[in-house]
Amino acid sequence: MNSVDVAVMAAGKGTRMKSNLPKVLHRLGGRTLLDHVIDTADALQARQVVVITGHGAAQVEASLHGRQHLQCVRQMPQLGTGHAMQQAVPVLADDGVTLVLSGDVPLIQVDTLQALLSLCDAKHLALLTLETPTPTGYGRVVRNAQGQVQAIVEEKDATPAQRQITLIYSGIMAVPTRLLRTWLARLDNHNAQQEYYLTDVVKLAVADGTTVVAHAISQAWQVEGVNNPVQLAALERAYQHLQAEQFMQAGVRLADPARFDVRGQLTCGQDVEIDVNCVFEGKVHLGDGVRIGPHCVIANADIGAGTIVQAYTHIDGEQQPVTIGRDARIGPFARLRPGAALGDEVHIGNFVEVKNSSMARGAKANHLAYLGDATVGERVNYGAGSITANYDGANKHRTVIEADVHVGSNSVLVAPVTLGAGGTIGGGSTITKDTAPGALTVTRAKQTSIDNWARPVKTKK
Ligand code: UD1
Ligand code: MG
Repeated sequence: MNSVDVAVMAAGKGTRMKSNLPKVLHRLGGRTLLDHVIDTADALQARQVVVITGHGAAQVEASLHGRQHLQCVRQMPQLGTGHAMQQAVPVLADDGVTLVLSGDVPLIQVDTLQALLSLCDAKHLALLTLETPTPTGYGRVVRNAQGQVQAIVEEKDATPAQRQITLIYSGIMAVPTRLLRTWLARLDNHNAQQEYYLTDVVKLAVADGTTVVAHAISQAWQVEGVNNPVQLAALERAYQHLQAEQFMQAGVRLADPARFDVRGQLTCGQDVEIDVNCVFEGKVHLGDGVRIGPHCVIANADIGAGTIVQAYTHIDGEQQPVTIGRDARIGPFARLRPGAALGDEVHIGNFVEVKNSSMARGAKANHLAYLGDATVGERVNYGAGSITANYDGANKHRTVIEADVHVGSNSVLVAPVTLGAGGTIGGGSTITKDTAPGALTVTRAKQTSIDNWARPVKTKK
């Protein structure tokens, strides 16, 4: 397998997407279409990957920055798939097999490509094909009476009889590079689209006495391409369905596999339950026994065993992952932002926002509160409506709340400030100075009453 080189065609415009973004940079499951294809090529341990860019070349090439064993060649202008491959062969070594992939066919699977490659050697060209009742738009695989492949005919060039053929070419082939080079040099553009068709190498191979094998698969989604937003959405569903199935096979209990979206890397322990309409982004880990309620969005987070995340919770650890310990209770309607680091048995309730703050074991903020740039000790109870005033308009400062402090409702903690262990803050206080351990601190005015108070009355005009 070491002599496999991959060529990915990604120069086309994608006119039917009606988008400014080059087609291969549209996203599926959180990754670009091209990234899907190249990740698959990498999984094959290809010797090198050559990406043919053209339309939006600079943007496409930038998206590949930092990838190993990969180079881009440009195709300007774009004169067809054969012309695209003509740009690639100068950088491909003669001793190998070239696997041709399309940048807009994202769901091709590694084992399918391995099976295709096993049919290709110096004397055999292997085509990946699909038997389909709906062949419209695809190149048809023409065979003789003995069933031997003779040619691929594009839809626009096909005779009415050829259009009845239901074996279609997927756009993916494996071909000995030394021969590919000679066939590509002989292509012409005498066809309906006046393009240089890669598919014409098939008839040249047959004329040269090379055997062409058609490897047919039955899963259409593996070879379906993205040409418009309808197809992109359909493949997104196919991809999510595939992932959902893999998670369920591994024991994850999904309330409804059709309402489950992973746009990154999700890993789960045992006995994980996920309710409907949850979206996972970036890198997320759910420990043993974690339960995720309906309608949660969770990005870049590590959630400890036994923790329950209730409905409509938003966790976003994009710049700095969110971590949650064991047996915590989060939500409903909680918001955890980058750098939230919650210990075991922490409780976060509705409309509580936590950013760049740690909360030690058993600390609670159950209602309507903000904790930003705070260090919260064990068993702290952070009252409803309280906030850390962490930003003075120019700089951010830390709030330290030591163990066992009770912060009364509607308090403002003006940072930098430290609340000593075991202290109590009276509700409605604005705390600007450090408080002593064990003390009750109250800053609000004393309650006074004026008896028989007459309210103002509206004056007549
Ligand atoms: C191609 C095949 C067709 C097959 C179908 C499968 C040819 C002539 N036809 O048709 O037999 O059934 O794929 O999806 O190959 N590209 C370039 N440079 C170009 C033109 C295209 O890099 O000059 C790239 C595109 O970005 C795309 C791929 O090649 O990734 C396929 O091009 P597309 O125009 O979609 O070919 P189809 O007409 O779909
Ligand atoms: Mg296409």
